[in-house]
Amino acid sequence: WVQLSTLPPEPVIPSKKPFKVELVGGKRYSWCTCGHSKKQPFCDGAHKTKAQGLSPLRFVPEKDATAWLCGCKYTNNPPYCDGTHKQDFVISAPLHEQTDS
Ligand code: FES
Repeated sequence: WVQLSTLPPEPVIPSKKPFKVELVGGKRYSWCTCGHSKKQPFCDGAHKTKAQGLSPLRFVPEKDATAWLCGCKYTNNPPYCDGTHKQDFVISAPLHEQTDS
């Protein structure tokens, strides 16, 4: 028996645009990193079955703020959108359809 890969899975792309959210200062958030959550841009636990090896990014904003959270999952400044969704590799990638299976 050979383990084929020990690398964590690549995220799928649930949205090619960021999500505008009103963050509450001091509150704990879990930003979905795997793309499988149905509660985008936040984690719903889907990584436990669909993307083992990935885990959500937990963050606590210092104060109330309007933020654009990355929906493509390829930002270099997670959880915030940094414009990476405008790059060709995201534009040409398939959009992930959320399914129940
Ligand atoms: S939505 Fe991912 S970088 Fe903008």
